Amino acid sequence: MACARFLTLKPIHGTSTLSQFHRPRIQTFCKVRAFSALMSPTSTAVFYENHGPPDTVTKVIELPPVEVKENDVCVKMLASPINPSDVNRIEGVYPVRPPVPAVGGYEGVGEVHSVGSAVQGLSPGDLVMASPPSAGTWQTHVVKDKSLWHKIDRYTPVEYAATVTINPLTALRMIEDYVELKAGDAIVQNGATSMVGQCVIQLAKIRGIHTINIIRDRTGSDEAKEKLKKLGADEVYTESQLEVKNIKSLLGNVPEPALGFNCVGGNAASLVLKFLRQGGTMVTYGGMAKKPITVSTSSFIFKVCNQFIIHCMELVPFSEFHTALDKALGKHGSQPKQVIKF
Ligand SMILES: NC(=O)c1ccc[n+]([C@@H]2O[C@H](COP(=O)([O-])OP(=O)(O)OC[C@H]3O[C@@H](n4cnc5c(N)ncnc54)[C@H](OP(=O)(O)O)[C@@H]3O)[C@@H](O)[C@H]2O)c1
Repeated sequence: MACARFLTLKPIHGTSTLSQFHRPRIQTFCKVRAFSALMSPTSTAVFYENHGPPDTVTKVIELPPVEVKENDVCVKMLASPINPSDVNRIEGVYPVRPPVPAVGGYEGVGEVHSVGSAVQGLSPGDLVMASPPSAGTWQTHVVKDKSLWHKIDRYTPVEYAATVTINPLTALRMIEDYVELKAGDAIVQNGATSMVGQCVIQLAKIRGIHTINIIRDRTGSDEAKEKLKKLGADEVYTESQLEVKNIKSLLGNVPEPALGFNCVGGNAASLVLKFLRQGGTMVTYGGMAKKPITVSTSSFIFKVCNQFIIHCMELVPFSEFHTALDKALGKHGSQPKQVIKF
């Protein structure tokens, strides 16, 4: 009997928070404030007025100071990544996005600059990350309610602190929430060079779980394979290497995976399904190829598909934002995650 379930791993978001954050910032352009109010410094921000290609619609501008209200914290940002979802928000294709005009970015880390009169537990100089993640982190000074900042160890490397809330936690939840795995079991995933993919490899390795990793064919794929193996990947294949009749013959002594992760779509999703054991689960959490998932009839009938759902990074000075954006958009081939350093 056909048995297929289609679920989604919903992205981390909070619509009300986004609009609450964005509107005051934009509205303050023409507001007259009382002299006694605590104000943030001027902020240099990656700003877009309309949706469209990020390399066309974004510009770096100076935003005027905003009031730091009694429960607000003003943070001097230190680093913030360019994630695929940030790109999709600017394009206007991500389901959950702030209203335009908006400042880009969704996660990041910074140092407390000043606090509102009712804020306790946070002081200037504390290292804080935006947690839960929320919109508008691509700017030098961010003012948000105290509940949106989480204090962290002063000595955490900024590139890790800036990127911990979305991708590593997604990897962890996907490993722990869908199938009960034990040491010796296996996972198959595509998009293995992504930050989520790299986290999956390392978290699985710690648990003694094998990983079969699929990457796309592109210049530098041999180097990418080596990097992933150093992180703990058992097997890494390019998509073209998997154009074989009996894909499972490649498994050798590794058991058929009970769990698969798909962040690419198209044929790369079918490859994950081909490796899965009967009754296995495929979690789809992204769609990098922007192509529909193709599922063979036999996979559809004999497999249960739960559809949907120490990474490599480059710190880039804020002054080179548009170079980082080009790299994040794939214009220079496969690149590490771009993290803007303010
Ligand atoms: N649902 C959720 O809650 C959730 C949470 C986090 C992330 N995500 C999703 O997970 C995915 C990965 O995010 P990330 O931040 O880890 O990514 P990332 O580090 O920015 O890496 C991007 C990945 O996408 C691949 N890629 C780019 N364009 C592609 C294309 N046209 N066809 C096939 N592969 C392509 C890249 O391969 P190369 O190395 O070959 O360039 C790389 O593996 C994204 O789709 C993101 O939206 C979802």
